[in-house]
Amino acid sequence: MNNLLEIKNVTKNYHTKEGEIKAIKDFNLQIKPGEIIAIVGPSGCGKSTILSIIATLDEEYFGDIIKSNNLKMAYMLQSDALLPWLTIYENAILGLKIQNMLNKENLDYVNYLLKFYNLEEFKDNYPKSLSGGMKQRVG
Ligand SMILES: Nc1ncnc2c1ncn2[C@@H]1O[C@H](COP(=O)(O)OP(=O)(O)O)[C@@H](O)[C@H]1O
Ligand SMILES: [Mg+2]
Repeated sequence: MNNLLEIKNVTKNYHTKEGEIKAIKDFNLQIKPGEIIAIVGPSGCGKSTILSIIATLDEEYFGDIIKSNNLKMAYMLQSDALLPWLTIYENAILGLKIQNMLNKENLDYVNYLLKFYNLEEFKDNYPKSLSGGMKQRVG
């Protein structure tokens, strides 16, 4: 079966005032449809770095990332990235709003997800009143 995502010889060096940090060297991975993959390793081994590269948050690296047209990507960051001055509902629709995609179908889906994740009764709350796990679910 074709790969959904192929990571070929990805190498990433961070340049800091103190010098060069070699974060990832020649990383390879192929992911096929339906596979569940966990990237496991000690703190500082480069897990967040490779996820940032896959999510196109970091475009300075060597190697190739080949994505299938069928790839749908979502990335939940390690720490929640909710905006504290917006309610849970406003945070949940922010991505759609920025992309001008606030149509009925998408808003119905937001409401479906808020229910699915047991967040509906908190939708008018602000992030500070939610637990860590609840904030992750909003994310
Ligand atoms: N923005 C950055 N600037 C400089 N070095 C970084 C930066 N982000 C991560 N690093 C370094 O790159 C290496 C990999 O970090 P990271 O990908 O965050 O590891 P992990 O997520 O596996 O704990 C570590 O040595 C870390 O200190
Ligand atoms: Mg990390």
